[in-house]
Parts: sequence; C-alpha cells; structure tokens
Amino acid sequence: MKEILLNTSDNTCRVLVGEPFKNIRNFLPDKKLVIITDENVHKHYGEFFPDGLLITLKPGESSKTLGIASDIYGKLIQHEIDRKSFILGVGGGIVCDIAGYIASTYLRGLSFGFVSTSLLSQVDASIGGKNGVNYEGYKNMVGVIRQPDFVICDPTMLNTLPVEEYHRGFAEVIKYGAIVDAELFDFLEKHHQEALDGDKGILEEIIGICAETKCRIVEGDEKETGERKLLNFGHTFAHAFEKNAGMPHGEAVSVGMILAAGISVKLGKISLQDVDRLRDLLKKFQLPVEYPHSFDDVFEVMKRDKKRDGDTIGLILLDAIGRAVISDIQLSTFKNWIDDLR
Ligand SMILES: NC(=O)c1ccc[n+]([C@@H]2O[C@H](COP(=O)([O-])OP(=O)(O)OC[C@H]3O[C@@H](n4cnc5c(N)ncnc54)[C@H](O)[C@@H]3O)[C@@H](O)[C@H]2O)c1
Ligand SMILES: [Zn+2]
Repeated sequence: MKEILLNTSDNTCRVLVGEPFKNIRNFLPDKKLVIITDENVHKHYGEFFPDGLLITLKPGESSKTLGIASDIYGKLIQHEIDRKSFILGVGGGIVCDIAGYIASTYLRGLSFGFVSTSLLSQVDASIGGKNGVNYEGYKNMVGVIRQPDFVICDPTMLNTLPVEEYHRGFAEVIKYGAIVDAELFDFLEKHHQEALDGDKGILEEIIGICAETKCRIVEGDEKETGERKLLNFGHTFAHAFEKNAGMPHGEAVSVGMILAAGISVKLGKISLQDVDRLRDLLKKFQLPVEYPHSFDDVFEVMKRDKKRDGDTIGLILLDAIGRAVISDIQLSTFKNWIDDLR
C-alpha cells in the first residue's frame, strides 16, 4: 500500500493506492453518510457498501449534467442531509466528478471522499479536486476545484472493469509518460504485456507513479495557472470528439494526443520518430489513433474550450517524449490546421 499526501491551502487529501475497499469504514468520519455510485459499480460492490443514503446513477456521461445534479440535491433535501453529513463517491471518473460537484456545492460544501473504481479514475480523474458537470455536451463547463479528504484506489476492483474501459485508462497513463515522465513511457513500452494482463505488481506500480505525479503537479498549481495545464495534453481535441461523436473520454484523449503531437512536429518540436513511438504505444493498449468521424464542427466546439484566451488557444505540445510545453496558438492558424484535417 502506498499513501500519497496531497497538500493544498484548504486541506490534506490522502490518496491510498492498494488500500482494500473492504477497509472503507476505517476512513469514514462518524457522520451521516450519503453514497453516490452508478448501477454497474453497485451491481459488483453494493453488498460491501457501508450503511447510508444510497444514490445510484445510470452509467455514462448522460449522468454528468446539471439536471442529474438537481435531482440529487432534491434527494438530499428530502432526506434532511445537513452540513454534518459526508458524501462518498464510489465509481469511475463520472461518479467522482458529479459526487465531488454535489459535495462542493450542496449547502455550500460538505466533506467528501472517493473510492475510485476505474483505471482512468485511479490514475487521474479522482485526484486533484476538479469536480464538475457537462453543459449541453460541452465538457466540464460547470464546476469547482475542491479536494476530497481521501481517494481510495484498490486495484483489485479493476478485475470487474470491462476490458475496453481498462484500455481507456491507459490513455491517461501514457499521457503522463508523454508530458512529464520519459521513464514511465519507457517502462510502459517494456512492460505493456504485463500491464495489459493486469499483472498485480506492475499495475500497482503504474497507478502509484501516476497518482504521485498528479498529486505533485496539483500541489504546485492547484488552480491551473501553469504546470497543471500540461495534464490537458490531447484534451482540447478530446472534449470536441466527446461532444460531437460521443467518443469515450480515454479514446478521445488517445486520438487527441496524436493530433497534438502532429502539430508539435509541424512546429519543429518533437521528432516524427517520437510521434511513431507514441502511436505504437497507444495501439499496444488497443487505443484509437485516428478520429473515425467528420472533422466538421470540431473547430466550433474547440474554440469554446476553457483554454481559450481571446484570439488564442493554449495548446499543450511536446518538445520530446516526457517534455510538454504550453503554446498559445492563434485561433485562425488553428482553424487552418483543422481544415487541413478535414
Ligand atoms: N476530474 C478530473 O480531473 C478528470 C480527469 C480525467 C477524466 N475525468 C472525467 O472522467 C470521466 C471518465 O471516467 P471513467 O473512464 O472512469 O468513466 P466512467 O465513470 O463512466 O467508468 C467507465 C465505465 O466503467 C464502469 N465501472 C467503473 N468501475 C467499475 C468496476 N470496478 N467494475 C465494473 N465496472 C466499472 C462504469 O459504470 C462505466 O460504465 C469523464 O467524464 C472525464 O471527463 C475527470
Ligand atoms: Zn482526461
């Protein structure tokens, strides 16, 4: 078990990699408990849930909306949930995003924690305090940054994860390698088969490395004014693909990283050989490297991205494997590139 502390001005979040879910009661405060989960996670683990008000969402992005948030507020009021209550999110990135958002906004904020159940969520989504919902398909447009008290990452819970969801998690793992950790990238190239087979030691090591990296980046830049932006590598494209084509987040990030790497080559940064390495590694994890739909309207969505600032958009590019940089690109230039892709 590896415990990583994420210290911010408001609290210290404990991230516990390898902590068994069955120990959850040891982490819960002596407070009235609300559990937010989804149907799939409940089906597999519901019998082990602690007692409390249970709110079970339909799986998928359609639950990450203001409408569902409003339904949840209604239930909390109906059950007289007060500020002394505690909210526990048990699920993947979608459950954690919405549970954190509810906990941060209901009655101006309750304390909360997560049991992170998908690979994507254990290495990324559940850590760092970005809690929010989509608006009309625009990703994560409404939300707050507020840290949970703990994040429990039990890799044995990944045994029940559908295989395609497992692969999608590796998009964010590879992202860390590409942006800040060339050693992790090498490690993944060397150990991809063990990782794909779910080798317990390798997997726990990978989750630990990613969780640690995310904690250090967030600790240094919680409000995303600098280094934290690097974590958005591939995401400006990804969010448009998710909105326009309903692509799952991990797959959209995979394609988005290849396109951002391609732009990096265009601007004389990373070498073509390194883009090939990135493409090969993504393919080893059964991830897509091309957008299988029309690029029409992709620019329209991308220009509404949170990283836009007036006439420019902050794009994360690669100087090398393991070294990302933020580059402000003129919107008009960016539009031409997207037109080329069309
Ligand atoms: N807040 C952040 O910093 C951040 C970072 C990255 C991604 N995200 C968000 O995370 C979301 C994607 O997360 P995700 O890929 O975990 O999606 P998800 O929550 O939909 O989980 C994927 C699927 O796996 C199922 N599942 C989860 N755990 C399971 C388990 N242990 N056994 C069986 N089934 C299980 C879920 O029901 C779902 O069908 C996106 O909305 C993305 O925007 C947020
Ligand atoms: Zn992501």
